Amino acid sequence: MNLLELGSFHYKEKKLYCEQKSVEEIAETVGTPVFIYSKNYLVNQYKEFDKAFVGINHNIFFAIKSNFNLNVIKILLDQGSGVDVNSGGELYRALKAGATPNKILFSGVGKTAEEIKMALQHGVKLIKAESLSETNLIDKIAGEMKKTAPVAIRINPNVDAKTHPYISTGLAENKFGIDSSKAEEIFLECSKLKNIRLCGIDMHIGSQITSIEPFVEAIEKMAELFKKLKLSGIPLQHFDIGGGMGVMYKEENFFSLFKLSERVKEILLQLDCEILFEPGRFLTANAGILVAEIQYIKQNRNKIFFIVDAAMTELLRPTLYGAYHHIQPVKINDRKDIIVDVVGPVCESGDFLAKDRTITECIEGEKLAVLSAGAYGMVMSSNYNARRRPPEVIVDGDRFFISRSRESFEHLLWDEKIIDELHT
Ligand code: LLP
Repeated sequence: MNLLELGSFHYKEKKLYCEQKSVEEIAETVGTPVFIYSKNYLVNQYKEFDKAFVGINHNIFFAIKSNFNLNVIKILLDQGSGVDVNSGGELYRALKAGATPNKILFSGVGKTAEEIKMALQHGVKLIKAESLSETNLIDKIAGEMKKTAPVAIRINPNVDAKTHPYISTGLAENKFGIDSSKAEEIFLECSKLKNIRLCGIDMHIGSQITSIEPFVEAIEKMAELFKKLKLSGIPLQHFDIGGGMGVMYKEENFFSLFKLSERVKEILLQLDCEILFEPGRFLTANAGILVAEIQYIKQNRNKIFFIVDAAMTELLRPTLYGAYHHIQPVKINDRKDIIVDVVGPVCESGDFLAKDRTITECIEGEKLAVLSAGAYGMVMSSNYNARRRPPEVIVDGDRFFISRSRESFEHLLWDEKIIDELHT
């Protein structure tokens, strides 16, 4: 399967379209670099996820760390999604997008007391604790606030998700969750805390996982633990499988939710509880592209460089994980293929979007689309080199909307100012 057969982006008369809107037209109106997302794709991915688990009592909590644009969140909320947040800032964004607190899960390996207070104040559905010290802190804060905190404990099931080491989270050597061998002991210890309602177990074994096997292995292990804990009298109501379902960046086999559902249905039904999922990338990655304009083309020794106006500041994944993002011209041409590095203007040799990539010959001023940029793109962007973050556009049919504008120079300063006393 080709990436463009996934649905939301396609060529018509050699021009790239997002749904029924020409990408060139958007880029010319809004400027480059720009992120463009398809509403239709987000809706369809959500429905596909939901459909795969029909017959299982489940709910989906969109992991907004993959894309926290307010309108992207709202589009998924309108489909019935909840949200998974990883910080006070993400909680703030989720609430601004209109999420109801009882559909918010609060994750994170290092929540601060302030974040725990914020979660309790708003009344989130679950706080997912990752250590005994954290459950003690939640208990103390809940006590001070005269509340009972709904808590799930994240277990590290020690399975190899066979993904990039930076995004693998379910191995015993990773910082996440509680060691599965100590889980029973810790649950029993926590069940004594007065201001906590221990209601779930949770896992998240990694990201961009392309095989269902690590999930099956982890779910089997966790299901055993779930049953034991219930037998010891802990009234668990939720079993949280996390996110991590992989998507297609290249031609790699991508994740079949239907196969996963088939394999684990029986185990999950036996647990007789609410199953929670926290997909991020699955919903957003192929909903978005990053469009850049070629500023200069130059040759150094044997290498040809396309120097574009997007950089590692917009899409960090290629340099951070060696991630592959397909790149193609916004207007297809009939010129021959060449091999190039697509690089940005940032002062780092690591500032590249693609290395040794085969692409058709281009001309300065032409535009390129970097595909699969809807997840972990804009959210990982930075102001390095005092670059202004790009705009985010959402396409709905033949209309497009600027959900967030390009940052201005004023944004770069925020409230920073010259302090006269320092310079006398
Ligand atoms: N739940 C938890 C607790 C997580 O830590 C994550 C992602 C997710 C859900 C969503 O995972 P997803 O379905 O999107 O794989 N920046 C990296 C990905 C880091 C993922 C971190 N946690 C990248 O660009 O590949």
